Amino acid sequence: KGLRILDKGFLNTAVIRSRITYIDGEAGVLRYRGYPIEQLAQKSSHLESAYLLIYGSLPTRDQFKHFESEILRHGVMHSDAEEFFRSFRYDAHPMSMLTSAFAMLGSLYGEANPSLQGQRLYTNGDKQSLATMDRQIYRLIGKATTLAAMAYRVRQGREFVTPPTGLSYTGSFLYQMDHIGEEDYKPNPVLEKALDVLFLIHADHELNASCTTVLQTGSSLVDPYSAIAAGCASLYGPLHGGANEAVIRMLISIGKPENVPAFIEAVKKKEKTLSGFGHRVYKTSDPRSFIVRKTADEVFKVTGRDELLETAMALHDAAMKDEYFVKRKLAPNVDFCGLIYRAMGFPLDFFPVLFAVPRVVGWLAHWRQMMLQEGGVKIWRPRQVYIGSTKRDYVPVDERV
Ligand code: CMC
Repeated sequence: KGLRILDKGFLNTAVIRSRITYIDGEAGVLRYRGYPIEQLAQKSSHLESAYLLIYGSLPTRDQFKHFESEILRHGVMHSDAEEFFRSFRYDAHPMSMLTSAFAMLGSLYGEANPSLQGQRLYTNGDKQSLATMDRQIYRLIGKATTLAAMAYRVRQGREFVTPPTGLSYTGSFLYQMDHIGEEDYKPNPVLEKALDVLFLIHADHELNASCTTVLQTGSSLVDPYSAIAAGCASLYGPLHGGANEAVIRMLISIGKPENVPAFIEAVKKKEKTLSGFGHRVYKTSDPRSFIVRKTADEVFKVTGRDELLETAMALHDAAMKDEYFVKRKLAPNVDFCGLIYRAMGFPLDFFPVLFAVPRVVGWLAHWRQMMLQEGGVKIWRPRQVYIGSTKRDYVPVDERV
């Protein structure tokens, strides 16, 4: 009944009008609110670009000062959360911890819950509603790094660290992860800057699977902590945010560059996936992959070259000239940044967390836009094409064959 067009995987369905991020997948263009990603990566910072993504324009000096201080102030964690983290097993995947932790945060902030405060809590658009929304935005961005650092330290049986004052967003994050007691501990400035650039290029990518999940979940008017937890779960998968972890597992399994041809053949036979290659939207190199390469050069000057780099380059070169990949327009995406994270000493299963933490910004920008969109929020409820049985009558258990 009625015309329904089956669009498996949403290849051609637009679900919202957006002013946030522009991608031209054929030309390899990515812009946040009109600004090219290359300019932002070179001249801006993660938090400045976060402001841009969420509120639509680059902040004035005073606007930025307020935004940054609110976010850093909200990094401090409720002590109840420490018990929560200690309840995980020592070998829990940090993405499982982070996903649950975002949902747990919702339990601490009843003021953010439309089920308790009224359904129009975020859609009113009045001063109070906007201020409540801003507070949740500061909290979620501020606490994302704290939760991630807690997930990192709890597995090592280490005490949690209170966010320091006087450091940048990524500086504070590295401090909370690595601090071992010296009063004047400071993260390496080159690594701090590199992480900031990687955070900035991961901050948003329009309606990817996780952002769509946040919006779909948010469309029921649930609190933003629950919506972000849902997005985090979606990002965890190896086809999305888990790909940076999968890239390194793949490179380790390939081992030496001389094993690359056999791996490529296995991919072509569809026995293996070339993680870090291919994208739903880009049909040429992902513009972020060039920024990743430049950042890798900076980081390797401090850390030394990763031993998997030769294998990664051999794989890249082999794929880029192979008919299978050329025909399907498969090129490197952003996920070879796993090599940088490895060189910086992050554990392998922590890499998706380094994607999720900055992506909180994009999720919130889209969530805020949807809450304030003209005409209000419409619940996201797609239709299906039913191909199951026609009506049949119940058969008692003794009569079934
Ligand atoms: N390795 C081998 N073959 C591939 C790959 C790959 N990485 N990606 C796509 N293909 C093939 C696919 O098998 C299909 O071939 P055929 O036409 O013979 O059936 C063709 O290329 C088209 O691919 P698709 O699966 O229809 O493309 P999609 O848009 O549905 O999937 C993707 C996009 C990113 C899930 C996919 O390219 C992939 O699995 N890549 C590897 C995982 C990865 O790196 N993910 C990170 C994406 S970027 C960061 C992010 O947004 O999370």
